[in-house]
Amino acid sequence: MDGNGRWARERGFARIRGHEEGAESVRDAIAGCIEAGVEFLTLYAFSTENWRRPKAEVIALMKLLERFLKKRTPELMEKNVRLQAIGRLTDLPAACQRELHCSIEATAGNTALTLILALSYSGRLEIIDAIQSLLREIELGHIDKAMIDPETFSKHLYTRYYPDPDLLIRTSGEMRLSNFLLWQLSYTEIFVTSKLWPDFRKGDLLDAIRDYGNRQRRYGGI
Ligand code: IPE
Ligand code: MG
Repeated sequence: MDGNGRWARERGFARIRGHEEGAESVRDAIAGCIEAGVEFLTLYAFSTENWRRPKAEVIALMKLLERFLKKRTPELMEKNVRLQAIGRLTDLPAACQRELHCSIEATAGNTALTLILALSYSGRLEIIDAIQSLLREIELGHIDKAMIDPETFSKHLYTRYYPDPDLLIRTSGEMRLSNFLLWQLSYTEIFVTSKLWPDFRKGDLLDAIRDYGNRQRRYGGI
């Protein structure tokens, strides 16, 4: 979800206004996924690198997250959306963690869409955490070294309960992965749009999904 800051700057607003407007695009993305029958939506909301931003912006983003969770959980219930989160969640302020866990618990039985928020997320750290988890299992004698294959490895990632993404949408025209789902994106189709995230609305999402529908996925075959 890139481009919130630029969206605000173009209008002479403070950056946080861009993040607030971006939260509206999140609601649209959820609605669009439900309409299109998408079962899993992962939003890269905050990376471990984002902690390096000015303190005031980090605090404002965390407050926005807390408010979003509090205010939108009834809407998630109404839309039958199950909330999940990946990342180093214990890095988040306690109030955020509380709201997050409340919302995850409240929506646990919902079945229309699984919305996964990547928070204090880093693809490289996820891989390191998976290696640590595998090593523990090996030490405990639960698995044998020789058993480690891509499938076993995947079961130690934060995303072990979810399928790999079919489509990656990157807004604001940036042509990079920015440490997002490095393992999981191996065969994912990529859609880059120059639209800034606050301008990326339901119609844009449905266009991206239609575009994906015309792709030929060969997974290295012919
Ligand atoms: C993405 O928008 C939102 C978060 C990382 C939380 P940016 O804040 O990166 O917006 P730009 O890149 O400055 O336009
Ligand atoms: Mg950015």
